[in-house]
Amino acid sequence: PPNLQMLEEDLGLERVNCRAKGASSGFKVAILGAAGGIGQPLAMLMKMNPLVSLLHLYDVVNAPGVTADISHMDTSAVVRGFLGQQQLEDALIGMDLVIIPAGVPRKPGMTRDDLFNINAGIVKTLCEAIAKCCPKAIVNIISNPVNSTVPIAAEVFKKVGVFDPKRVLGVTMLDVVRANTFVAEIMGLDPREVDVPVVGGHAGVTILPLLSQVKPSCSFTQKEIDYLTDRIQNGGTEVVEAKAGAGSATLSMAYAAVKFADACLRALRGDPAVVHCAYVASEVTELPFFASKVRLGRNGVEEIYPLGPLNEYERAGLEKAKKELAGSIQKGVSFVKK
Ligand code: NAI
Repeated sequence: PPNLQMLEEDLGLERVNCRAKGASSGFKVAILGAAGGIGQPLAMLMKMNPLVSLLHLYDVVNAPGVTADISHMDTSAVVRGFLGQQQLEDALIGMDLVIIPAGVPRKPGMTRDDLFNINAGIVKTLCEAIAKCCPKAIVNIISNPVNSTVPIAAEVFKKVGVFDPKRVLGVTMLDVVRANTFVAEIMGLDPREVDVPVVGGHAGVTILPLLSQVKPSCSFTQKEIDYLTDRIQNGGTEVVEAKAGAGSATLSMAYAAVKFADACLRALRGDPAVVHCAYVASEVTELPFFASKVRLGRNGVEEIYPLGPLNEYERAGLEKAKKELAGSIQKGVSFVKK
């Protein structure tokens, strides 16, 4: 398909390409795994984001097709496609934000941890290239198991001396999006007005919704708490089973990823009070990584908020979550160290 460089050369129009050369203000964003089930709608939604001036779409398959398609949208971001390992570094140079939804998704009967062997290697390779080409970029990791892939990314960056704990964020926004939706359903509220903190990690019992801290303040019966906790923790499995072998959540995930990426970009721009849950290097518990509310700023994570008062049910949930998380973190760290 024609691209901006070809147009510039064929038509001799310097001006055709000037926006893509960084003349316009805005952020440069790369999506790694852009041709996938999450990657495609994510790329489309990022192309619609006015904060993005340059959008790099990288994948090992079908990146040119997705790029050609999305580049026809009449929004301001310039789109460029990159195919295969030999174009990975070009995809990354100069990026402000890198979003990683590359890897295989779950099939019915699989846990997120079952994806470890394939996705760990993919995330490691991608992070090695980020460390080399754009070590100052904010990195949003979507590839599962997030509980392990974030520690993998951290270890890769540490190995070459560029780890900045403020810049590596595991995306748990889908858990929050689901929690807001399910609570709104039960309480008869508009989901846009509901804010449920979800802490811990991103798999099964490590997903810990803090229903005692929901805003607007709600009181739930124990039956409702059991129902909501179970549905939020197993929301991913609900989709995997409904798709019956055709993958996991992609559309709601793309929505959640864009909600989170947009927050990162607004924070980079200097907007105050950008607060969301994310899985990051943390001292909130004794574990080296934990998801909780964080304030985002020009350097990534500027502040990590404590968990706040937990009730007995949540304290018991926290102990279970920490036990499982500890193993997943260790698994990620050992993968890079071995
Ligand atoms: P998919 O299989 O539809 O797409 C994955 C894409 O990654 C494919 O286009 C594939 O070619 C690409 N890819 C594979 N190896 C690559 C490499 N080395 N470099 C670049 N791209 C590569 O999968 P889907 O449904 O998009 O899911 C992607 C990941 O996101 C999975 O690991 C899934 O478990 C995870 N996920 C995370 C969620 C979260 O809340 N954090 C929610 C839902 C899914």
